[in-house]
Amino acid sequence: MKNEKIIVAIDGFSSTGKSSFAKQIAQKLSYIYVDTGAMYRAVTLYCIEKNLIKDCELNVDKIIENLTNMKINFIFNTNTGKSETFLNGENVEDKIRKVEISNHVSAISAIPEVRTQLVALQQEMGKNKGIVMDGRDIGTVVFPNAELKIFMTAEPKIRAMRRYNELLEKDNNVTFEEIEKNICERDYIDTHRDTSPLKKADDAIILDNSHISIEEQMQWFEKIFNSVIE
Ligand code: DC
Repeated sequence: MKNEKIIVAIDGFSSTGKSSFAKQIAQKLSYIYVDTGAMYRAVTLYCIEKNLIKDCELNVDKIIENLTNMKINFIFNTNTGKSETFLNGENVEDKIRKVEISNHVSAISAIPEVRTQLVALQQEMGKNKGIVMDGRDIGTVVFPNAELKIFMTAEPKIRAMRRYNELLEKDNNVTFEEIEKNICERDYIDTHRDTSPLKKADDAIILDNSHISIEEQMQWFEKIFNSVIE
């Protein structure tokens, strides 16, 4: 299996660094990277812009009706070396990272019809393997047969601090308390929703990165990856 491409599925709690880790792995292996959280965020942005969310009330029927009007795709930006999210032809990479989106995305991603549509798209993206995909249900629902599954976790306070530092660069109006609250709420909604709740796949390997560096994390991955492809 040494030369065969595999699927690397990365799931875990919010702000555990899944995307950065997945990106780093994809680069190392020359695999495609797909950030499925960005897809749920793009749906949320659409709903906000079309007034389908008002005062935290979702117009679920209208959201479902509009699903076919949302075209989500990724385009690799050769200048930044990053893959960017597009919604109906518009680059929404910055817009989808705002706190307002984070505040509504868990509710949007709990709608079963939203999940069905995005999971189908994700399965299509990974049909030729050679892909690193991160999210909440990749190892359990999207690719239950993925050759390598990682489940990421870290202490909530540490996650909140990491997210806070990251957001400060883009959005000065955030407080640490607001971020911590949002992380705890999202943990709760993501693990308690009826459809595809966040849970570790039985065959996933746990990575708790509360107290390890990015370099140590990558060394850990290389060992695991080599044992899987042998
Ligand atoms: O990874 P993220 O924080 O950008 O994800 C945003 C939200 O999307 C997260 O709160 C849960 C949801 N999500 C999901 O339900 N399933 C996925 N595969 C990815 C994300």
